[in-house]
Amino acid sequence: MARHLITSAIPYINGIKHLGNLVGSQLPADLYARYQRQRGAEVLFLCATDEHGTPAELAAAKAGKPVAEYCTEMHDVQARIAEGFGLSFDHFGRSSSIQNQKLTQHFAGVLADRGLIEEVEQRQIYSETDGRFLPDRYVEGTCPNCGFEDARGDQCDNCTKQLDPEDLINPRSTVSGATDLEMRATKHLFLKQSGLKDKLDAWIDSKTDWPVLTTSIAKKWLHDGDGLQDRGITRDLSWGVPVKRGDEDWPGMEGKVFYVWFDAPIEYIACAQEWVDAGKGDDWERWWRTDKGADDVRYTQFMGKDNVPFHTLSFPATIMGSGEPWKLVDYIKSFNYLNYDGGQFSTSRGRGVFMDQALEILPADYWRWWLLSHAPETSDAEFTWENFQSSVNKDLADVLGNFVSRITKFCRSKFGEAVPEAGEYGEAEHALIADITARVARYGEQMDAMEVRKSAAELRAIWAAGNEYLQAQAPWTTFKTDPDRAAAQVRLALNLIPLYATLAAPFIPDAAEKMLAGMKITDASWPDDVGSAVAQLPAGHVFEVPEVLFAKITDEQREEWEGRFAGNRD
Ligand code: MF3
Ligand code: ZN
Repeated sequence: MARHLITSAIPYINGIKHLGNLVGSQLPADLYARYQRQRGAEVLFLCATDEHGTPAELAAAKAGKPVAEYCTEMHDVQARIAEGFGLSFDHFGRSSSIQNQKLTQHFAGVLADRGLIEEVEQRQIYSETDGRFLPDRYVEGTCPNCGFEDARGDQCDNCTKQLDPEDLINPRSTVSGATDLEMRATKHLFLKQSGLKDKLDAWIDSKTDWPVLTTSIAKKWLHDGDGLQDRGITRDLSWGVPVKRGDEDWPGMEGKVFYVWFDAPIEYIACAQEWVDAGKGDDWERWWRTDKGADDVRYTQFMGKDNVPFHTLSFPATIMGSGEPWKLVDYIKSFNYLNYDGGQFSTSRGRGVFMDQALEILPADYWRWWLLSHAPETSDAEFTWENFQSSVNKDLADVLGNFVSRITKFCRSKFGEAVPEAGEYGEAEHALIADITARVARYGEQMDAMEVRKSAAELRAIWAAGNEYLQAQAPWTTFKTDPDRAAAQVRLALNLIPLYATLAAPFIPDAAEKMLAGMKITDASWPDDVGSAVAQLPAGHVFEVPEVLFAKITDEQREEWEGRFAGNRD
């Protein structure tokens, strides 16, 4: 049995994600996980919240809460929303878990033992009042360039000039407002990933089947400018994984934590441990340790393009550098950006649709279908309400929904709510089965290849083939002259419903379930043989006309939503 380890980039804890974030990682990962499960593979699908770093600290401060409490709350919020979207994680972990803390410290220790960590002396702003070093963005003051009084230590928001905290006039701590700041010597740890450059380069070169988007970004970072840079992996923050060398204290690193981008990808592994510790699985090593069976695992990661350097270079450097038998990723599926209505989604300005809002106005399947069928694979894509309305109304309501309701209602009115027995299949029926057989094979190939848009297009074509068949055969007309022939037509069309449900389930799981429930089918296995799949409902099989699957989006709704999501979410 094939085994698939699947991870989605883990979303930052601060705030609710927008639809662009969703389609760039979690949603396509879910599509693939659901598909592989249906194909009979053993799947471990993991995601988590990315909880460390300055953004989390700042968001907690803004919410007036201790950061640990803020993260716990936001984790639950994100978990609930993920569930609302039908994201079928086997575990939704937390990068602040004890498992991740231990594992991160373990990796740092091993990398240090192997000479891959360098201690670098730096000078940094220290606040006497706060009793700590301050990261650049925790220092504010007057911009030396334009005189703006609230310029941040890393950049002036007024004139956009990049700054060093030392440049600021009258600098103050944003933690306390303290002005007793001074430059002090401090130490930070650097991961010497430049030493792994050739190894990484050869590894990327061996991935000839990866999306160009993934490999081109990796190559650019390996070769542009000065090439792969060593990377600072510690920060002066209180919220994060405390710097330790394995279990040991690290002299000179007291009060410091690992940089969020060092510990976050390690959570992919720690999350499997959390999954076991939560009692949901009994062995994480057979997914992650190549000496414990993970050699047979195919590991696929999903992410937006901005995450690619960390997954193609930094995290593999951590893994390779450790010299331990950890599983390396086999395939990285990356995505471009989704834009919103002529501009960008903006979290700060509340522009665009956020995951919680999306579920307030329409069920998950509407969004899943639009987002996946328009996934930004080969270029950036754009969400417009008009496009959304027309895709939903055409694909889901007119093509799929209408097919299901038309044939079930017609059958009920002429033959009752059971599959009719009379009549034989003729040429048209055999032609339809042959057409769908070919399409299902192509659909499987596209899904295997994670060609998300192409898969959606093939699925839509499979639905349309059924509609066209009904349109051409018109059992409602046939019935007047040849009721037996109409019965055969209805029998085949009814049998397409569980087939369509099974094929569509990775995209629109809720609708698929309703279709199967209506047809009173519990076990919908993958149609390896379409001919026998469309004989699944025998004559006399009782069904119920399913409730309406998809309501059309009206012009009034579209206009209202266009206005509501234009910006300034409170
Ligand atoms: N939190 C990051 C983002 O949303 C992704 C982190 S992915 C991992 O862009 F590698 F850190 F796990
Ligand atoms: Zn300025």
